[in-house]
Amino acid sequence: MGERMEQQVKSRKRVADHGEVFTAEREVKAMCDLVKPETERIDSRFLEPACGDGNFLSEILARKMAVVRKKYRRSVVDYEMNSLLAVSSLYGVDILADNVEACRQRLFDLWDKEYRSVCKKECNDNMRRAIRFILGRNIVCGNALTLMCVDENAQDTSEPIVFSEWAFVMGGQIQRKDYYFSELLNSPTENDQISLDSPSEEGVFLQQYICDYRRLGE
Ligand SMILES: C[S@@+](CC[C@H](N)C(=O)[O-])C[C@H]1O[C@@H](n2cnc3c(N)ncnc32)[C@H](O)[C@@H]1O
Repeated sequence: MGERMEQQVKSRKRVADHGEVFTAEREVKAMCDLVKPETERIDSRFLEPACGDGNFLSEILARKMAVVRKKYRRSVVDYEMNSLLAVSSLYGVDILADNVEACRQRLFDLWDKEYRSVCKKECNDNMRRAIRFILGRNIVCGNALTLMCVDENAQDTSEPIVFSEWAFVMGGQIQRKDYYFSELLNSPTENDQISLDSPSEEGVFLQQYICDYRRLGE
């Protein structure tokens, strides 16, 4: 993260049209520290509802990946499965397509750099494809106010935002369950807080898929 040039405003027009002002790294870190144990739990779910290029999500992923490296660096399979869980627990929505693409790429690059550094010659492209597939589903181009997907002009489409819940079942099999974002928001927890942590008990799910984790996205 330290290698990145920080730019908080891209253009006046983007600020005026979409309130696009990026949070400085120092504030991101300080805010993440407020929930530090959750940011270091590999599968704790986070949603950044106006994610930009992922300032919060990337800080959280970096923290999770440090834990994955520490715990699982001795086994490629354990490392792959847990780093996949870390990525799959992060969700974002942004109304601007270029931000969504930048966010997916940033999270992918962060994950891939770690993957190469830990698994070296045992890295494989199936795993990379699986991570890209998950990011393609979890980081959504949509309107976080109307909960609808948007087109390239940031206009609502008729397609509701759908989020996937990912979980390992039976060893290396990964299960994906899809939910309407609106359903998840209509299911308050005890504290009346939005929770993406256990949607399977709360929302009505749309579809379910199970496959080997290295075949995701085929
Ligand atoms: C203040 S910036 C924050 C970006 C990032 N979360 C950060 O802290 O650096 C707000 C972001 O929200 C996006 N945005 C504005 N209106 C939105 C909406 N209705 N739904 C989703 N994203 C929206 C903008 O494109 C912009 O990237």
